[in-house]
Amino acid sequence: MDKQVESMELMKSFWHLDTKVQKIFDEFSENTISNFYIPYGVAPNVIVNGVTHLVPLVIEESSVVAAASSSAKFWSNLGGFKAEVVDIVKIGQLHFLWKGDKEKLVTVFDELKLALRQSTKHITANMEKRGGGILDFELIDKIDLMEDYYQIRVSFDTADSMGANFINSCLEEFASELKSFFRTHEAFDEDERDCLVIMSILSNYTPDCLVRTWVECELKDLDSLDESLTGEEFANKFQLAVKIAELDVYRATTHNKGIFNGIDAVAIATGNDFRAIEAAGHAYASRDGQYKSLSSVEIKDGKFKFILEVPIALGTVGGLTNLHPLAKHSIEMLGNPTARELMQIAAVLGLANNFAAIRSLVTKGIQIGHMKMHLMNILNHFEATNNEKEQAVEYFVAHKVSFANVSEFIANLRKK
Ligand code: MEV
Repeated sequence: MDKQVESMELMKSFWHLDTKVQKIFDEFSENTISNFYIPYGVAPNVIVNGVTHLVPLVIEESSVVAAASSSAKFWSNLGGFKAEVVDIVKIGQLHFLWKGDKEKLVTVFDELKLALRQSTKHITANMEKRGGGILDFELIDKIDLMEDYYQIRVSFDTADSMGANFINSCLEEFASELKSFFRTHEAFDEDERDCLVIMSILSNYTPDCLVRTWVECELKDLDSLDESLTGEEFANKFQLAVKIAELDVYRATTHNKGIFNGIDAVAIATGNDFRAIEAAGHAYASRDGQYKSLSSVEIKDGKFKFILEVPIALGTVGGLTNLHPLAKHSIEMLGNPTARELMQIAAVLGLANNFAAIRSLVTKGIQIGHMKMHLMNILNHFEATNNEKEQAVEYFVAHKVSFANVSEFIANLRKK
């Protein structure tokens, strides 16, 4: 077959059989030529504040679902995960240059706030019915950073939606209202009437859209985690590993990546924007000027506590959440949570994955588990039959998985 036909056939083979469903996927984006599959798995036994969930996870990395599941199982015997939403405030910014007298602007700022609110009444009415809306406006003087540069920082509550479109629509209205305010308000002189709005856009840095989750137990409850370590020894080694992720940016990046393995998988499964969540999380991890671990450990009075605090702006209504048939199904699988509840579940999956990773790292290492999970990928590379796979799985229970070892095993099987 010629290469072009072959490629066309490959693309077609991933089209959805139902043309109506395929049309939904086509229209999510531009120039769609096919669908790109990623496994959709579930982690059972995830107890969050006493409620047990089956959590959908969309991820291509083989060990993430296994790690989340084993962590969830372990903590389910110790009361599960606790979680609380600190706040759900989101931020939008109007960036503008203005050459006027700042004091005048400060004096009339309350009036400007009213005018800005008024200008978006038609957009905010629905959001207000759902319990959200514009919270406040703040004038921020940035002239020490750039000549004539100001911001208006607007805080929003977007209820159960992620709210990006709502925020950006409001901001664009604010931009034209701001220009007209300078043009028409009597407080300003003729040479103060021009303002250059550079851009109006939400900020994906959401330090006040914050969730905290933790697990807690007696040190002796950790006795079973490794044959060669007591619970106390395990906890101390675990704490040192987290401490290193507080001190060293190379380790912190990998540590936090492990947290986002869980959070992103929930975000994707529920049709949320995982890039936005990642960006916020990494910025938050640098909030003190040094990028560090998002999780922390406390050992006190014979108790171990493992905590994750992370901004996660996500939604359970609007956007892809209701349009993507599987995202919709994920939301249903989770019992139609509010945005606050979904933030807690996503954070819990982050903590669960982080716990599983550090547990492996400070005991047997991660490669045993990773390569066991990776075995199927290697077998598929060699186009192993079901029978060959069964024999390989049995053999590699007691043998080290590596590409070379699997290759040799398959070659030997095929020689027989
Ligand atoms: C792999 O996807 C994630 C880990 O590297 C995280 C970590 O090292 O903490 C296992």
